[in-house]
Amino acid sequence: MTGSSEPGPGALRLAVLVSGSGTNLQALLDAVDAGGAPFEVVVVGADRDGTGGAERAAARGVPTFVCRVPDFDSRADWDAALARLLAEHTPDLVVSAGFMKVLGPEVLAGVRVVNTHPALLPSFPGAHGVRDALAHGVRVTGCTCHWVDDGVDTGPIIDQRAVRVEDGDTLESLHERIKVEERRMLVEVLTHLAADRSWR
Ligand code: GRF
Repeated sequence: MTGSSEPGPGALRLAVLVSGSGTNLQALLDAVDAGGAPFEVVVVGADRDGTGGAERAAARGVPTFVCRVPDFDSRADWDAALARLLAEHTPDLVVSAGFMKVLGPEVLAGVRVVNTHPALLPSFPGAHGVRDALAHGVRVTGCTCHWVDDGVDTGPIIDQRAVRVEDGDTLESLHERIKVEERRMLVEVLTHLAADRSWR
């Protein structure tokens, strides 16, 4: 790690949860490496083995853990284990960045959680926001950053970005353009939340 990527005093301690390729996580790590970001990534957790997100974290020397639902007797036990794993790293905030599990009450009681979603909520919540928006035939979609509550993509909205649907867009082409905006939005939202901590 270079001197410029050292977090400043009082940097917001982020725990990032991932299930997939981790490009949103990478945007946060790149912002830290660029210097001056008011946050640091203290741990990356995944709900499955072999995620690109965990690989990106490991390559950067960020601690990682895997907490898989099938390894527990119940969803409640998984929730409790995830809450404990997160608490070990004393995060100020958890970022659900492409984490494809609904978080349980123990996690949500311990720490505030921000989620990024690839559609303009409250339209098209759930695991297939891009597909559902495309199937509906919307001409504008986008991404949303919101606080996580006990519903599925129902918490208070923090920020949104619009993305036009182009003729001939596929699920993949549209999702890639949304993700470009999503990464920028996430870095900007966390920069804002680090500056104004009235949400704590
Ligand atoms: C993002 O579009 C996120 O909103 C969605 O899955 C994608 C994850 O991308 N739930 P990545 O793993 O950060 O590249």
